[in-house]
Parts: sequence; C-alpha cells; structure tokens
Amino acid sequence: MTTKFVCLVTGASRGIGSALAQRLGSLHPSVTHLAITARSEQDLNLVKNQIPSQVKTLVIPADLANPEAPKHIINETISNFGQIDCVVHGAGTLGEIKPLSDQSMEHITSENYQQSTLFKTFQINLLSVMQVTHFAIPHLQKTNGRVIFISSGAAAYPTYAWSTYCVTKSGMNMLCSCLALEEKDITFLSVRPGVVDTKMQKELREQGKEGMQSEDYDKFIKYHETGQLKSPDDVAKKISSLCLYSPKEWSGRFVSLEDKDVETLYAQKFSTNV
Ligand SMILES: NC(=O)c1ccc[n+]([C@@H]2O[C@H](COP(=O)([O-])OP(=O)(O)OC[C@H]3O[C@@H](n4cnc5c(N)ncnc54)[C@H](OP(=O)(O)O)[C@@H]3O)[C@@H](O)[C@H]2O)c1
Repeated sequence: MTTKFVCLVTGASRGIGSALAQRLGSLHPSVTHLAITARSEQDLNLVKNQIPSQVKTLVIPADLANPEAPKHIINETISNFGQIDCVVHGAGTLGEIKPLSDQSMEHITSENYQQSTLFKTFQINLLSVMQVTHFAIPHLQKTNGRVIFISSGAAAYPTYAWSTYCVTKSGMNMLCSCLALEEKDITFLSVRPGVVDTKMQKELREQGKEGMQSEDYDKFIKYHETGQLKSPDDVAKKISSLCLYSPKEWSGRFVSLEDKDVETLYAQKFSTNV
C-alpha cells in the first residue's frame, strides 16, 4: 500500500519553487500529493501539467502579501488532502535594493502601510512564513513532518543596499532555530540554495545597478555572463532529498546544498543519480 505523503510548496509558479514542485512530483510513490501556491494561477497550472497524474496536485492561487492568505492556504490543503507532511517556503521577493536612507518610506501612513514595499517584503519573506508555519504546525505534529525554509547566503552575509532582504532571510533562519526548540516532533531546516538562474536573479541584474555597490553588482553580472548560475532543477534535486529524508537531529540548522552532510544524504537517497 502506498503511504500518503503531502507536500505544500509556496512560490511554486516559477524558479526554484516550480522546479522543486516538478521534482517532488516525479518522486511518486514517495510523494503522493502536492499543494502548490503562488499568485499566478496560470503559471501554477502550467507547473501542474508537468506533474504526473498519479500525484494529486492542488493549485492554490494566493497572494502572500495578503495577511489572510496563509490560513487559507493551509485550510485548502487540509480540506483537500487531510494531512501535511512537508511545507517548503519557496516564495520570496528582493524588496527595495537601496541603502535604507534612500528607501521610499516618506509617504507611509497607517492607511497605506500594507501597500508599501517595506511591509510587502516583510510579509512575503517572513511574516507569512511565520503564519503559514503556525497554521501548519498542528498537522505537522501528527505526521512528524518537515519545514524547509528557502533562505539565502544573504541571511548570514551583510550586503550593501540589501538590508530588507538580508533582515527577512536572517529572521527566517532564527525562526527555524527557535522552532526547532519549540516543536520536537517536527524537523525544521533553513537552506541556502546558492546563486540560481531565476527571475529573481534577472530582476537583480535589471534593478540592482543603481543602489548596489559596483563590486557587488558586477559579481552578479559575471555569474550570469560566465554561466556560473545554478540551474533550478539541480538545486531542486538536492532540496527534494531534504524534504523527504532530512534527519530530526538536523532540526534548526542553516545548511548549504554543498555541505557534506547534505551531499551525502542526497547521494545515499538518490544514488542512481535521479
Ligand atoms: N535565485 C537565487 O539566486 C536565490 C538565491 C538565494 C535564495 N533565493 C530564494 O529562493 C526563493 C525562490 O526564489 P527564485 O529565485 O525562484 O525567485 P523567482 O523566480 O522570482 O520566484 C519567486 C516565487 O515567489 C512567488 N511570489 C512572489 N511574490 C509573491 C506573493 N506576493 N505571493 C505569493 N507568492 C509570491 C512567485 O510567484 P508569483 O509571482 O506567481 O506570485 C514565484 O513563484 C526565494 O525565497 C529567494 O529569496 C533565491
């Protein structure tokens, strides 16, 4: 009998989240149900079309900038699939790439705060992550589930003009560590994927020049020009091994996909190079 395994992936409409949803979808019968969410229903349906039909796939269009979205996402997942075994927090945004002193905060009022880039970046990258996790915890307790936070090297390394992004990602790492203390039945892991060829990198190249220091900006241009960006599919393969097999003893850690432990887990579980 196939054991039910339900995975929820946010940010699944493109980039790392989309590649991960497709990768998890290829791992039937280890993965039996997928809930995929992002704003673009059209793109989510394109992703769903790539997933074999044995894996029941639920599309949940939702804007994580809306503080009511997290509860809705978990309710939809539970009412359709009845359980959750893994949550991957893949949705993310760069926010304003400028020194704090230059960021657009002059016209923030209590009425328009939720429309500000500052609020939206925190809501999408961190606050919604806390909310989704809050609503998922009772279900993950029942399955001894896992939560994978897609964090960033920027969580640990300060970068000029990236304060909002860095703060949200370092907050994500601290959330992961705190939750590991609070929820002993659930495994929490924060992952830095490396520099990956997605729309986020394109946005950085297009929008980062003005605010960033030239040596930082040029580094990203060079990664792109010299083919050093990782492919979302390669990154997704390793993250999928963490979704399915990361051991409880790792809970609370911030890992790189190049860490020896992570490489070893991937090699052990997917030794045929799938
Ligand atoms: N690419 C890299 O080099 C890199 C490096 C380190 C960390 N990361 C992290 O990896 C994660 C995935 O990034 P990516 O590179 O794959 O970026 P991406 O291609 O821009 O994808 C971002 C995803 O987040 C979703 N999203 C954005 N705003 C949203 C909102 N308001 N509500 C719901 N979903 C929203 C997008 O879907 P919709 O637009 O359809 O809503 C999309 O699916 C992010 O957390 C990012 O910080 C990326």
